[in-house]
Amino acid sequence: MAHDFPVQRSCPFAPPAEYEKLRDEAPVVRGKLPGGEVWLVTRWAEARQVLSDATISTAPSTPGNALVAMSAEPPPPEVLEAQAEQGRGFFIDMDPPEHSVYRKLLIPEFSYRRIKELRPGIQATVDRLIDDMLAQGTEADLVEAFGLPMPSLVICQLLGVPYSEREFFQSRTRRMLTDEDEAGRTAAVGELRGFLSGLVAEAEKAPGDDLLGRLVTARAVPHEDMVGMMFLLLVAGHETTANMIPLSVLSLLRHPDQLRQAIDDPSLWPGAVEELLRFHSIVDWVAFDRATTQEIEIGGRKIGAGEGVLVLGASANRDERVFPDPDRLDIRREARPHVAFGYGVHQCLGQNLARAELEIALRTLFERVPGLRVDTPDEELSFKYTAPIFGMNALPVSW
Ligand code: HEM
Repeated sequence: MAHDFPVQRSCPFAPPAEYEKLRDEAPVVRGKLPGGEVWLVTRWAEARQVLSDATISTAPSTPGNALVAMSAEPPPPEVLEAQAEQGRGFFIDMDPPEHSVYRKLLIPEFSYRRIKELRPGIQATVDRLIDDMLAQGTEADLVEAFGLPMPSLVICQLLGVPYSEREFFQSRTRRMLTDEDEAGRTAAVGELRGFLSGLVAEAEKAPGDDLLGRLVTARAVPHEDMVGMMFLLLVAGHETTANMIPLSVLSLLRHPDQLRQAIDDPSLWPGAVEELLRFHSIVDWVAFDRATTQEIEIGGRKIGAGEGVLVLGASANRDERVFPDPDRLDIRREARPHVAFGYGVHQCLGQNLARAELEIALRTLFERVPGLRVDTPDEELSFKYTAPIFGMNALPVSW
């Protein structure tokens, strides 16, 4: 029997309740979407198998792509054409060998060493935001004051956005992510792409010793594709980190024994970040839309070519076969094999950066604001239950 999908979260600290039943039933189950049926991958081993299988495609244009089945009507050709134009350089939606051209260009920019060099800048950004927050009084919305601006400023640092233009960049990014009106969000996307295009053009004229300078010097891809790549970095690196911060702060405050351990022994923060990534799994199936291009076997089932597959990352990260007592937040557990950053050729390019940002943000926040608390009960807090990426709309904190 096919299960109705998607299903929503109803608890801020757990994936949708149905996932446990689906995982018990089988590693691969049938899901009924508005536009047709797809395969849902529920367990960790099979999730990794699908995400690392070279015959499985992530391109939305591959026949059977699972996200296309999300809408009851297939999009008209002119919409598909517009999407393809906007998708230039957006390599998260490409398969190798096209995907590898873009990814290879960026790999050195996100190496462990390069991110280590960025750490003092990230620390300075975090300190400045906390200074501003503390100067305002004894309460704030942590999303507005910290969660949203932090990743935005870090991306400015990475892309070399001049200080004088950071305010523009940040306000448009915020509007793109949070404007209630679709036209407002679309306008912000246009303005940001225009801004990024200007930044790339300047680097083309006078390449500096920074990410954009190195990329234009390599002359590997045309201008429009460069803009698309930068836009992908902005989108992929923003909402994810911005949502993880308030969720992590809230879950640590609600698990004071875990928070105390990290405060007493700061060497535990990197492990705590891994566990928080596993525990919240904010990027679930929405990033893991795939289609088979050949017959394959997953979890003992033969699946033909041209079938849609969705990997339930949040379910894989609660698979009791790999993570004992998976619903418990335990910052000392071996959480690292989680698939919160995906797996295989599309595994998150920015994962070292995300880890550094989360570790510095959480450690510094709890060190510098030791009395940080959330007085509002969980039922009254505003969570993004219907958004593609889970998170919080606001988090009122006081100290
Ligand atoms: C908590 C933070 C983050 C989470 C949970 C996250 C999660 C993910 C996931 C699950 C994927 C895989 C998508 C797939 O398989 O199709 C991905 C890909 C990607 N992420 Fe992240 N991400 C985070 C932060 C970042 C940051 C900070 C950046 C860069 C500034 C970034 C850039 C990317 C890019 C460029 C890709 C596409 C990689 C490819 O297709 O080769 N991410 N991310």
